[in-house]
Amino acid sequence: MKLAGKVALVTGAGSGIGQAIALLFAAEGARVGVADFSEAGGNATVSQIRAAGGDAEFFRVDVSRSAEVNATVDGVLQRWGQLDILCNNAGMGVAATVVETAEEDWDRTLAVDLKGVFLGCKYAIPPMIAHGGGVIVNTASVAGQVGVLNRAAYCAAKAGVVGLTKSVAVDYVGQNIRINAICPGTVDSPWIQKILSAQPDPVAERQRMVERQPMGRMGEPAEIARAALYLACDDSAFVTGTALVIDGGLTAR
Ligand SMILES: NC(=O)c1ccc[n+]([C@@H]2O[C@H](COP(=O)([O-])OP(=O)(O)OC[C@H]3O[C@@H](n4cnc5c(N)ncnc54)[C@H](O)[C@@H]3O)[C@@H](O)[C@H]2O)c1
Repeated sequence: MKLAGKVALVTGAGSGIGQAIALLFAAEGARVGVADFSEAGGNATVSQIRAAGGDAEFFRVDVSRSAEVNATVDGVLQRWGQLDILCNNAGMGVAATVVETAEEDWDRTLAVDLKGVFLGCKYAIPPMIAHGGGVIVNTASVAGQVGVLNRAAYCAAKAGVVGLTKSVAVDYVGQNIRINAICPGTVDSPWIQKILSAQPDPVAERQRMVERQPMGRMGEPAEIARAALYLACDDSAFVTGTALVIDGGLTAR
């Protein structure tokens, strides 16, 4: 068990990649705070962890709201007395070019995808330091590395996550905080299903997405979770400030 004795907090853990991270971390021995603004999703993740014999609790949070993120970190500390691992994973996206992007959509995307990561770090790092150190894994995206068509605000936010990750890494390396980002490519989560169902021809659009994958398939949430596990455990003890791309070769060509 790679995370025995650890306490982890995973945001956006009620669905997709975050749920896969929460389940894997619990299977590796961590007690897991499952944070999401979806109560149904969060409770489903907690039920799965408990059914497998693990320890988890749901925390309802909108990661863009300072007081709620602060209260979630406090809730984890009250429940388990420590916080060793934070995964800032909750995210959202709006499909639009920069000209088409409504200002409210820009503000909301940056608030959830970038400010949410800032708030998570802001409130989790002091108790981590007080306890001797900790690890943070931020879910960025290949959209933080390259331009993705029609995703202006999302690309800006995810590139911001990569920059913030590097900044925090250098600021806190002396206090035994490691922080890294993961940059998934196209992953077959409920997020993608939502995008597809908004298309006039979801089947054809899925086919188009699959065809642009060098491996001829999308990633699975569990494959992204294994990268998060690597960055969260001591296997990556010499790794901080990096952005690990897990995209089946999408951005390699
Ligand atoms: N699926 C992909 O192809 C893909 C690719 C690259 C990066 N990502 C990133 O991975 C992360 C997870 O995406 P996913 O595919 O699992 O999506 P998903 O929609 O399946 O899950 C996202 C979860 O985040 C929660 N959430 C959204 N906004 C929130 C907020 N303000 N506060 C708290 N919870 C909130 C949702 O309720 C949901 O449970 C996101 O940051 C996303 O940008 C996804």
